[in-house]
Amino acid sequence: MSTNTSAPSRWTSSLAKEFAVGITGIMLVLFLFVHMAGNLLIFAGAETFNAYPEKLRSMGALFWAARIGLIAAFVIHMSLAASLAKASRKARTNRYESQQYVGRKSPATRFMILTGIIVLCYLILHLWQFTLSSHEGARATLGGEEQGLYGVVWNTFANPGWSLLYIFALCAVASHLSHAIASVVVTLGVLSDKNTAKADIAARLIALVLFVGFASVPVYILFKTFTGGAG
Ligand code: HEM
Repeated sequence: MSTNTSAPSRWTSSLAKEFAVGITGIMLVLFLFVHMAGNLLIFAGAETFNAYPEKLRSMGALFWAARIGLIAAFVIHMSLAASLAKASRKARTNRYESQQYVGRKSPATRFMILTGIIVLCYLILHLWQFTLSSHEGARATLGGEEQGLYGVVWNTFANPGWSLLYIFALCAVASHLSHAIASVVVTLGVLSDKNTAKADIAARLIALVLFVGFASVPVYILFKTFTGGAG
């Protein structure tokens, strides 16, 4: 049985993979914006912050469908991105259609795989720490009172080690995103060079907004902790 695949069919399958990576990537970015908005409720206090996940969970089947969709998007995104990276290394051909980007490797491009791996490790730690762990007991207690998920988040970031680790991971998320969004647009070749450059700037802006929004939580908690503010 021949394992040879013709060049056009290889190209089509690679383009289909790029497309799926792009679509699932967009789904993940949308999730990040919703997640960031939920996190910013920390500034409104424990009651409002804790009410948000409770409301989501009360949606039952819809909440679980969204969770399953998110996991599926993540798994498809990761496995197809890994397969494309492997194929591109093997072929050693430049897949980019826009000549403007040929030979212009940003630090984010070079660190794409590395930042992806950091994001994956971060996610495992993050889910263990906030989603899978108990939201009761000592970890949730602030000022002698149990404050649920709000208490868990506060106590985590009151520790500068955890805050710095999160900010480091958020840099990896931002770096990954800033390149990934532009890369999908460029590879699909759907935009002119001028608009591709604009998409590049938009990608960096999206990454910056997400970085500032997410990082504001540990920064705020650290600030309050070291200036004597309670949770
Ligand atoms: C400082 C930044 C962040 C904070 C404070 C934060 C906080 C939280 C909290 C409190 C939860 C638990 C929600 C619950 O159990 O109901 C959670 C879940 C989660 N976070 Fe984050 N997060 C941050 C950044 C991120 C980033 C950058 C990602 C993705 C790369 C991410 C992905 C997730 C996922 C996938 C879940 C599980 C959602 C679910 O339960 O269905 N988080 N986060």
